[in-house]
Amino acid sequence: MSTPPAQRIERLRRELNRHNRLYYVEAQPEISDREFDRLLEELAALEAAHPELADPDSPTRRVGGEPLTGFAPVRHAQPMRSLGNTYSEDELREFDARVRKILGDHPYTYVVEPKIDGVAISLRYEQGRLVLGATRGDGETGDDITANLRTLRSIPLRLEGPLAETAVIEVRGEAFMPNEGFRKLNDQRQADGLEAFANPRNATAGSLKQLDPKLVATRPLDAIFYACGELDGWNPPTHEELLQGLRDAGLRIAPWHKPCPDFEAVRTAIHELAERKASLPFGIDGAVIKVNERTTYEELGYTAKSPRWAIAFKYEPEQAQTRLRDIVVQVGRTGVLTPVAELDPVPVAGSTVSRATLHNEEEIARKDIRIGDRVVIEKAGEVIPAVVRVVAEARTGAERTFAMPETCPACGSKVERAEGEVAVRCLNAACPAQVKSRLRHFASRGAMDIEGLGEVLVEQLVDRGLVASPADLYRLTAEQVADLERMGGKSAENLIRGIEASKDRDLWRLIFALGIRHVGAGGAQALEASVQTLDELMAKSAEDLESVRDIGPVVARSIADFFAVAENRQLVERLREAGVNLARKGGAVVSGADGPLAGKTVVVTGSLEAFTREEAQEAVRKAGGKPTGSVSRSTDLVVAGPGAGSKLKKAQDLGIEVIDEAEFRRRIGDG
Ligand code: IVH
Repeated sequence: MSTPPAQRIERLRRELNRHNRLYYVEAQPEISDREFDRLLEELAALEAAHPELADPDSPTRRVGGEPLTGFAPVRHAQPMRSLGNTYSEDELREFDARVRKILGDHPYTYVVEPKIDGVAISLRYEQGRLVLGATRGDGETGDDITANLRTLRSIPLRLEGPLAETAVIEVRGEAFMPNEGFRKLNDQRQADGLEAFANPRNATAGSLKQLDPKLVATRPLDAIFYACGELDGWNPPTHEELLQGLRDAGLRIAPWHKPCPDFEAVRTAIHELAERKASLPFGIDGAVIKVNERTTYEELGYTAKSPRWAIAFKYEPEQAQTRLRDIVVQVGRTGVLTPVAELDPVPVAGSTVSRATLHNEEEIARKDIRIGDRVVIEKAGEVIPAVVRVVAEARTGAERTFAMPETCPACGSKVERAEGEVAVRCLNAACPAQVKSRLRHFASRGAMDIEGLGEVLVEQLVDRGLVASPADLYRLTAEQVADLERMGGKSAENLIRGIEASKDRDLWRLIFALGIRHVGAGGAQALEASVQTLDELMAKSAEDLESVRDIGPVVARSIADFFAVAENRQLVERLREAGVNLARKGGAVVSGADGPLAGKTVVVTGSLEAFTREEAQEAVRKAGGKPTGSVSRSTDLVVAGPGAGSKLKKAQDLGIEVIDEAEFRRRIGDG
C-alpha cells in the first residue's frame, strides 16, 4: 500500500526543512545536493498534482536558510535570488521556449558560465569603496560578514578603473575554497587532530562563519563574481559587458564563459564545460545559462524565487556501482561507534574508493543497506564518498542485515545510546580503541606535539600495557621503548626527549590535548586567554565559562562536565606530578582578557557616529567583550545609538545596563 499523498507531502516538507537547516544554517549537510533535489522534485510534483494541499511555507517556495547568530543582520538592497535548476536537456529546451515566448520577436542570445560550488556572497561598493559584505541568508536578510570577507585577497577594498567612483555597485558572487587549498587545510586539520571538512563548500561556509577574521585570513578562500544587485551609475546592456566591467574594476570573474548565439550553441558550451570541469582548480556543480541582453530582464521578470532569464544546468555527480563487502565498526576518541562500509575497490572521479562512512545505524536502516549488497556510491566534488542507494534488483537473498553491536568491538563493554542522540557510544573510558585515539590526539602536532609518537607506536604501547593514559607517557623509560618492535636505542631516546620537551608547551595546547568534546584548538586558545592556570579553568562553572569570549553554552557545559569526572581530574594531577606546564606563559596569546569589557556580553544597536556596526563589534572584542546580535538575559551591556528599536526596548524590559556612544567610547578608552 502506498502512503496517502497528504502524509507523504507532510513528511517531505519536514525532511526538506531539516536538510535546508543542516545545509544553510549549520553547514553540516547529511545528504548530497542531488538527493536533496530529488526530494524537492518529488514534493513539487505532488504539490502540483494536489493543489488543495498547497502551503505558502512549503520548502518548494523558499530560497532557504536563516541568518546566523553572532553577526549583525543586513537587509539586501535587492533580494539575493536563487536559480531554477535542472538536470535534463529537455527542461533546458523548455526554458528556452519560455524565454522566446515572452520576448516574441525581440532577438536575444545567451552566455554559459560555470556554476561555482561555494557560498553566495554580496559586496556593496559605494563610490568605489567596499562598505558591506554579506551572506545570502534567507535571500532577503543575510549576515554582515564584512570583516571576514575583507580578508579575502581576491576581494578589492576599492574598485579600480572606470567604475572606481560609481555611486553604488552591489556585486554578487561565490566565495569558495580551491581544491588544492582545501586538501592542504584538511591535511593540516587531521595532523592537528581536528575533524576534516567533508568538502570545499563546507570548509568555505565553516570559515566564513568564524567570528574571528584573523582565523578566516588563514583559510585559503577565494571569490568569483557573476551578477549584480543594486546598481546606481552603471547599467551595462549585456551580461558579457557586466562581466568585463567587473573584471576591469578588479573583481575576479570565472576563468571561462561562452557567448552563445542560439540554443544549439548553449548545448555545445555545456558539454565543453563538462569536459573542462575536472581541470578547473575549484569545484563546479553545473553550468549557468543566462540571457545575455540585460535590457530584456525586466520583461522576462522573476518567479517567486528565481529570475526567468537564467537557469542552472546541473551535472550529475560521478557515481559507480560496487559490492559492499562488509560493514565494520570504528570506535572514535569520544567512544562514538561509526559503521564504515568496506567496498570492492572502484574508481570514481579520479580516485579509487574502497571505504565509505555510513554515519550511523539510522542511516543504514533508512537506505536499507545490507552486507553483500550491490550499492551505488557517489563522489560529488571532493566529498567523502557516500553510499547513495542499494541496487535492490541485484539482490540474491544472501545479503545480511546489519545491526549495531550491543558491545564495543574494541573492549567488549556494553554500548549506550544517549537520549535524543543518534550516536551509539562505548562508555568505557579504558576502552583500548578510545585510549589509542586519545593518545594519538594528545601527541598530535596541533596539541602537545610529541615528536616521534606516531600511530604504530601508540598501538604497541597500549597493547603491551605500557600506557593507558597520557600521563603514563611521562613515566616511560628509554629501555621500555627500545624493547618495542622496530625501535632501536637511538629512536627510543629521541622519543623520550620528545616526551620530555612536551612538558613545556603552552597551556592552550594542553587544554586542547585533553580531548574535551567540542573544544578545538581555537576554543582552547580562547580558554587560555581567560585564565592564568589550568586550576582556574577547572574551578569555573558552566555559567562562568559561557562568559568567556567565543565559548557558547554547549561548549561551556562540555568543559564543566569534563572536569566534574574524577578520572579527568586525576589525569590533571598526574600530569602536574610529571612536571607538565599547567600555567599560562606570559604574553603568548594576544587577548582582551584584561580589557575594560572583559567577560561582558555586549549588544550594539542603532547607528553610531564614529563606528560602523562591524567596527563597534571589533572594538568590543578588543576590549575583551563578546559582541552578540540579540539581547537576552545573558547580555551584560547594550550600546544604543539613534534609531535603536526593539533591542533597546528588550534591554530596558530586562533591566540590562544601556549606554550611549559617548559612554561606550569612554569605557573602551577611545578618544
Ligand atoms: S546567478 C539572480 N551565476 O548558485 C541570479 N549563480 O542556485 C543569481 N551560483 O545563489 C545567481 N555560480 O550562489 C549565478 N555563475 C553563477 C553562479 C551562481 C554559482 C550559485 C549562487 C546562486 C546559486 C543558485
